[in-house]
Amino acid sequence: MRVIGEVCLTDTTNPKATRRDFLYYATAGTGAVAGGAAVWPLIDQMNPSADVQALSSIEVDVSGVEPGTQITVKWLGKPVFIRRRTSEEIEAARSVDIEELLDREARNDNLDRETIALDQNRSLDEEGTWLVMMGVCTHLGCVPLGDGAGEFGGWFCPCHGSHYDTSGRIRKGPAPENLLVPIATFVNETTIKLG
Ligand code: FES
Repeated sequence: MRVIGEVCLTDTTNPKATRRDFLYYATAGTGAVAGGAAVWPLIDQMNPSADVQALSSIEVDVSGVEPGTQITVKWLGKPVFIRRRTSEEIEAARSVDIEELLDREARNDNLDRETIALDQNRSLDEEGTWLVMMGVCTHLGCVPLGDGAGEFGGWFCPCHGSHYDTSGRIRKGPAPENLLVPIATFVNETTIKLG
Protein backbone atom coordinates (compact mmCIF):
# COMPACT_ATOMS: atom_id res chain seq x y z
CA MET A 1 0.00 0.00 0.00
CA ARG A 2 1.31 3.46 -0.81
CA VAL A 3 0.54 6.54 1.20
CA ILE A 4 1.68 9.86 -0.07
CA GLY A 5 2.70 12.39 2.52
CA GLU A 6 2.05 10.35 5.65
CA VAL A 7 2.76 6.94 7.04
CA CYS A 8 0.48 3.96 7.16
CA LEU A 9 -0.24 2.91 10.74
CA THR A 10 -2.05 -0.30 10.12
CA ASP A 11 -2.73 -2.59 7.24
CA THR A 12 -5.28 -5.20 8.28
CA THR A 13 -4.18 -7.44 5.47
CA ASN A 14 -0.96 -7.70 7.43
CA PRO A 15 -1.17 -10.33 10.17
CA LYS A 16 0.81 -8.03 12.44
CA ALA A 17 -1.83 -5.34 12.11
CA THR A 18 -4.29 -6.84 14.56
CA ARG A 19 -1.65 -7.01 17.25
CA ARG A 20 -0.66 -3.40 16.65
CA ASP A 21 -4.30 -2.40 16.92
CA PHE A 22 -4.56 -4.30 20.15
CA LEU A 23 -1.44 -2.76 21.57
CA TYR A 24 -2.77 0.69 20.87
CA TYR A 25 -6.07 -0.09 22.48
CA ALA A 26 -4.40 -1.66 25.48
CA THR A 27 -2.46 1.53 26.08
CA ALA A 28 -5.53 3.70 25.72
CA GLY A 29 -7.64 1.33 27.78
CA THR A 30 -5.25 1.39 30.69
CA GLY A 31 -5.50 5.16 30.77
CA ALA A 32 -9.26 4.93 30.78
CA VAL A 33 -9.30 2.57 33.72
CA ALA A 34 -7.15 4.97 35.72
CA GLY A 35 -9.62 7.78 35.03
CA GLY A 36 -11.37 9.31 32.05
CA ALA A 37 -9.04 12.29 31.94
CA ALA A 38 -6.06 9.99 31.60
CA VAL A 39 -7.08 9.26 28.05
CA TRP A 40 -6.46 12.82 26.97
CA PRO A 41 -2.68 12.98 27.35
CA LEU A 42 -2.51 10.07 24.94
CA ILE A 43 -4.73 11.86 22.47
CA ASP A 44 -2.83 15.10 23.01
CA GLN A 45 0.21 13.35 21.66
CA MET A 46 -1.75 12.84 18.47
CA ASN A 47 -2.59 16.51 18.08
CA PRO A 48 -0.86 17.90 15.04
CA SER A 49 2.27 19.98 15.40
CA ALA A 50 2.67 23.02 13.18
CA ASP A 51 4.57 21.17 10.48
CA VAL A 52 1.98 18.37 10.39
CA GLN A 53 -0.87 20.89 10.23
CA ALA A 54 0.77 22.38 7.19
CA LEU A 55 0.20 19.04 5.48
CA SER A 56 -3.52 19.64 5.36
CA SER A 57 -4.25 17.11 2.65
CA ILE A 58 -2.79 13.75 1.73
CA GLU A 59 -3.44 11.26 -1.03
CA VAL A 60 -3.81 7.58 -0.23
CA ASP A 61 -3.40 4.76 -2.73
CA VAL A 62 -6.18 2.24 -1.97
CA SER A 63 -5.55 -0.09 -4.90
CA GLY A 64 -4.33 -2.81 -2.54
CA VAL A 65 -7.31 -2.75 -0.18
CA GLU A 66 -9.35 -5.93 -0.57
CA PRO A 67 -13.12 -6.12 0.04
CA GLY A 68 -13.82 -6.69 3.71
CA THR A 69 -10.58 -5.09 4.88
CA GLN A 70 -9.47 -1.64 5.95
CA ILE A 71 -6.35 0.38 6.32
CA THR A 72 -5.60 3.06 8.86
CA VAL A 73 -3.64 6.10 7.81
CA LYS A 74 -2.44 9.00 9.90
CA TRP A 75 -3.73 12.39 8.88
CA LEU A 76 -3.29 15.62 10.84
CA GLY A 77 -1.93 13.49 13.63
CA LYS A 78 -5.03 11.32 13.91
CA PRO A 79 -5.98 7.88 12.58
CA VAL A 80 -8.34 7.64 9.63
CA PHE A 81 -10.05 4.37 8.76
CA ILE A 82 -10.48 3.59 5.07
CA ARG A 83 -12.64 0.50 4.64
CA ARG A 84 -13.62 -1.31 1.49
CA ARG A 85 -16.92 -2.84 2.52
CA THR A 86 -18.45 -6.11 1.40
CA SER A 87 -21.96 -6.19 -0.09
CA GLU A 88 -23.14 -7.70 3.21
CA GLU A 89 -21.73 -4.78 5.18
CA ILE A 90 -23.35 -2.28 2.82
CA GLU A 91 -26.68 -4.09 2.99
CA ALA A 92 -26.51 -4.18 6.80
CA ALA A 93 -25.77 -0.44 6.92
CA ARG A 94 -28.47 0.54 4.43
CA SER A 95 -31.24 -1.58 5.91
CA VAL A 96 -31.20 0.28 9.23
CA ASP A 97 -34.21 2.46 9.94
CA ILE A 98 -33.18 6.01 10.84
CA GLU A 99 -35.45 5.76 13.89
CA GLU A 100 -33.16 3.11 15.34
CA LEU A 101 -30.14 5.41 15.39
CA LEU A 102 -28.86 7.07 18.55
CA ASP A 103 -27.29 9.89 16.51
CA ARG A 104 -29.32 10.81 13.45
CA GLU A 105 -26.85 13.28 11.99
CA ALA A 106 -24.60 12.06 9.20
CA ARG A 107 -21.52 13.74 10.77
CA ASN A 108 -20.05 14.02 7.31
CA ASP A 109 -17.81 17.03 6.78
CA ASN A 110 -18.50 16.79 3.04
CA LEU A 111 -22.22 17.50 3.55
CA ASP A 112 -24.44 19.98 5.39
CA ARG A 113 -24.63 19.64 9.15
CA GLU A 114 -28.36 18.77 9.01
CA THR A 115 -27.89 15.80 6.70
CA ILE A 116 -29.40 12.68 8.23
CA ALA A 117 -27.35 9.61 9.03
CA LEU A 118 -28.45 7.35 6.19
CA ASP A 119 -25.56 5.20 5.08
CA GLN A 120 -25.76 6.84 1.65
CA ASN A 121 -24.84 10.11 3.36
CA ARG A 122 -21.72 8.66 4.94
CA SER A 123 -20.13 6.44 2.33
CA LEU A 124 -17.64 7.96 -0.09
CA ASP A 125 -19.11 6.50 -3.28
CA GLU A 126 -22.70 6.01 -4.36
CA GLU A 127 -22.51 2.22 -4.24
CA GLY A 128 -21.29 2.42 -0.65
CA THR A 129 -18.15 0.38 -1.18
CA TRP A 130 -15.83 2.88 0.49
CA LEU A 131 -16.23 4.23 3.98
CA VAL A 132 -13.75 6.81 5.28
CA MET A 133 -13.95 7.88 8.92
CA MET A 134 -11.83 9.35 11.66
CA GLY A 135 -10.66 6.48 13.85
CA VAL A 136 -11.44 8.38 17.01
CA CYS A 137 -14.23 7.28 19.35
CA THR A 138 -16.64 10.15 19.95
CA HIS A 139 -16.81 9.38 23.66
CA LEU A 140 -13.30 10.10 24.96
CA GLY A 141 -11.13 9.60 21.93
CA CYS A 142 -9.86 6.01 22.00
CA VAL A 143 -9.22 4.25 18.70
CA PRO A 144 -12.03 1.71 18.08
CA LEU A 145 -11.30 -1.83 16.93
CA GLY A 146 -12.54 -2.70 13.45
CA ASP A 147 -13.05 -5.67 11.16
CA GLY A 148 -16.55 -6.52 12.29
CA ALA A 149 -15.98 -5.81 15.96
CA GLY A 150 -18.85 -5.18 18.35
CA GLU A 151 -22.49 -6.15 18.43
CA PHE A 152 -23.30 -4.42 15.15
CA GLY A 153 -20.50 -5.86 13.05
CA GLY A 154 -18.64 -2.59 12.56
CA TRP A 155 -16.33 -1.08 15.15
CA PHE A 156 -16.07 -1.46 18.89
CA CYS A 157 -14.42 0.85 21.39
CA PRO A 158 -13.43 -1.25 24.36
CA CYS A 159 -12.44 1.70 26.53
CA HIS A 160 -16.02 2.09 27.74
CA GLY A 161 -17.99 -0.20 25.45
CA SER A 162 -19.24 1.79 22.46
CA HIS A 163 -20.56 -0.22 19.52
CA TYR A 164 -20.61 1.23 15.99
CA ASP A 165 -22.34 -0.37 13.02
CA THR A 166 -20.97 -1.05 9.54
CA SER A 167 -21.56 2.60 8.69
CA GLY A 168 -19.63 3.78 11.75
CA ARG A 169 -22.80 4.99 13.45
CA ILE A 170 -23.04 4.74 17.22
CA ARG A 171 -25.59 2.08 18.16
CA LYS A 172 -24.86 1.24 21.79
CA GLY A 173 -22.66 2.60 24.58
CA PRO A 174 -21.63 6.03 25.87
CA ALA A 175 -20.30 7.57 22.65
CA PRO A 176 -22.65 10.46 21.75
CA GLU A 177 -21.98 10.74 18.02
CA ASN A 178 -21.31 8.71 14.91
CA LEU A 179 -17.67 8.42 13.85
CA LEU A 180 -16.81 11.58 11.92
CA VAL A 181 -16.49 11.37 8.14
CA PRO A 182 -13.70 13.79 7.14
CA ILE A 183 -13.34 15.76 3.93
CA ALA A 184 -12.46 13.09 1.39
CA THR A 185 -12.76 12.52 -2.33
CA PHE A 186 -11.57 10.18 -5.05
CA VAL A 187 -8.99 11.92 -7.25
CA ASN A 188 -8.83 8.86 -9.51
CA GLU A 189 -10.03 5.25 -9.37
CA THR A 190 -7.48 4.16 -6.79
CA THR A 191 -6.53 7.29 -4.91
CA ILE A 192 -8.43 8.97 -2.10
CA LYS A 193 -7.55 12.49 -1.07
CA LEU A 194 -8.10 13.48 2.56
CA GLY A 195 -8.58 17.16 3.23
S1 FES B 1 -13.54 6.37 24.52
FE1 FES B 1 -15.12 5.72 25.85
S2 FES B 1 -16.23 4.28 24.66
FE2 FES B 1 -14.69 4.98 23.33
